[in-house]
Amino acid sequence: MRSLESDLRRKIARLETLVDASMVFSGILDIDILLDTVMQKAEEVMEAEASSVFRIDEKRHDLYFITARGEKGKEAKEIRVPMGKGIVGWVAEHGKPLLVPDVRKDSRWFRGVDKKTKWVTRSILAVPLIVKGKVIGVAEVLNKKGDRKFDEDDLELFAALGNQIAIAVENASLYSDLDKLFLSSIRAIVEAVDAKDPYTRGHSSRVVEYALLIGNALTRDKDRLKEIEISAILHDVGKIGIPDKILGKPGRLTRREQKYMERHPEFSAAIIEPIELLKRLMRNIMHHHERIDGKGYPDGLKDKSIPLVARIIGIADAFDAMTTDRPYRKRKNTRIALRELKTHSGTQFDQRLVGIFVSEFSKQNPL
Ligand SMILES: [Fe+2]
Repeated sequence: MRSLESDLRRKIARLETLVDASMVFSGILDIDILLDTVMQKAEEVMEAEASSVFRIDEKRHDLYFITARGEKGKEAKEIRVPMGKGIVGWVAEHGKPLLVPDVRKDSRWFRGVDKKTKWVTRSILAVPLIVKGKVIGVAEVLNKKGDRKFDEDDLELFAALGNQIAIAVENASLYSDLDKLFLSSIRAIVEAVDAKDPYTRGHSSRVVEYALLIGNALTRDKDRLKEIEISAILHDVGKIGIPDKILGKPGRLTRREQKYMERHPEFSAAIIEPIELLKRLMRNIMHHHERIDGKGYPDGLKDKSIPLVARIIGIADAFDAMTTDRPYRKRKNTRIALRELKTHSGTQFDQRLVGIFVSEFSKQNPL
């Protein structure tokens, strides 16, 4: 009687894992975090010591880790497993789950990974990740804790989880392809704008690079970094609305021309406004020429009322402008440009962000 009851309780706990997992699947966009969370749950319920998720590389005809949890996870991530080799390779090739209670007794077992990671595998449960009839990867749990072995119940649960993992992995890669396409289209448009003026060729890409130097020192949040990247790419896209004779004028601009030139952040913001995905970046772009002391344009915003990303772009933009030739002056060398940033920090530029930029830039470009 007792064992029936505990059996039932165990089954309920497992069912709950599946429900929990689907909630996780629907809520997390970042595939690395998602897989880590789901595999952690899988380990808990199946009492496994470690787990991994592999993706098939069609071109290289092998498998690579997209998640490797457990003591030797980090070391394992470096390794690739040839198609058809080992338990994982077998599952990938045959598209069938495999329960191996004792790896030493299975001739398909491939020692390569253990050898390299110094991990000891005893038992494996592996399921294929299948999307629309095609195997795209493999998920596995390793070493049932204690003296026990993975059983048919584990297999059933893991196969169900595998279906969800497969869809999540596929969605994430579709999303990332789309994301790459989107970014490269934007870059192509911006390069065309930069090229309008031979003096600003490559300007936007360099501004991205400098802005991300600051961004990476501030955060590891991928969405935030993407926000910085796209805002930086697009900050000057409104220059497309500035006549060539003003943009490329060799001498100083007249007051009127200067006023017109200063409208480019508004033009940039207006260009991205109708694009739903970019709309939220408008303020970052609109305010990249504001100054900490409120003497910038277009709105004379002060200090922290200027969006953080706009303050970052302001520094990156000024640094690139100083270190490249312009029609009316020669470029400054980087040491002098860095000093200029410091001189104007607290008035024109955010002091803390200048500090970060100078130290990150100097780290990567030792004099
Ligand atoms: Fe600008």
